[in-house]
Amino acid sequence: MRLYINIDHVATVREARKTDEPDPVRAAVLAELGGADGITVHLREDRRHIQDRDVALLLKTARTPLNLETCSAPSMVDLAVAWLPAQVTLVPEKREEVTTEGGLDLSTEERRHEVAGAVRRLRDAGIRTSLFIDPDEGAIRASMDSGAEVVELHTGEYANARGPERREQFARLNRAASLARKLSLDVHAGHGLTYENVTPVAAVPEIEELNIGHSVISRAVFVGLERAVGEMATTLRRARRER
Ligand code: PXP
Repeated sequence: MRLYINIDHVATVREARKTDEPDPVRAAVLAELGGADGITVHLREDRRHIQDRDVALLLKTARTPLNLETCSAPSMVDLAVAWLPAQVTLVPEKREEVTTEGGLDLSTEERRHEVAGAVRRLRDAGIRTSLFIDPDEGAIRASMDSGAEVVELHTGEYANARGPERREQFARLNRAASLARKLSLDVHAGHGLTYENVTPVAAVPEIEELNIGHSVISRAVFVGLERAVGEMATTLRRARRER
């Protein structure tokens, strides 16, 4: 189980003042010292938090692999192909959204064609490519057809659900993870995961990587980033051990 820490929120604080602190590049160093296995950043088309400069510097300085989240627009894929991060996760993007709201829409031929074109370009450049999708059979099969090596299952609905609905959402994640694995896709997961809700997800054997941002950065405000990441890493290890 690998823990990738999403450091977008550090850039969000910086951009609130359009200044040079806090620096996500420094945050990555602390996340790594705390036990992160990788660093995730989402370069949005509107550049509302992470900037091109951050990605370029992280690629030079991070000791762990960089997972670049971006949409499948050709101009963003151009950047990824020029930068060559270890991994790209393609995500949907709407300008008005507060955060990524759902998985990639692969329901129409046109959307599947666009995503498959982006996957092809990234794979040809030697970049491991993941698709952020809802944990549903149709999306998993469409991901496989696109040529992606990895799917990241959207855990937002699981995280938002309570009581029996939470159990149903967890069962949905489990089914999706085992189908994806059966189809030889590597399985990641993320969105809305917290210290409180992550344990069952971390115990799903097919899931080998989690992307976590908001909860860890929120905790870091009080205890520091290195410790917040360390606590999450410990939670994941315990979940794996005790499953
Ligand atoms: N995975 C993807 C694809 C995301 O877009 C995000 C949020 O940027 C995350 C994981 C992390 O979500 P959270 O910040 O809720 O932990």
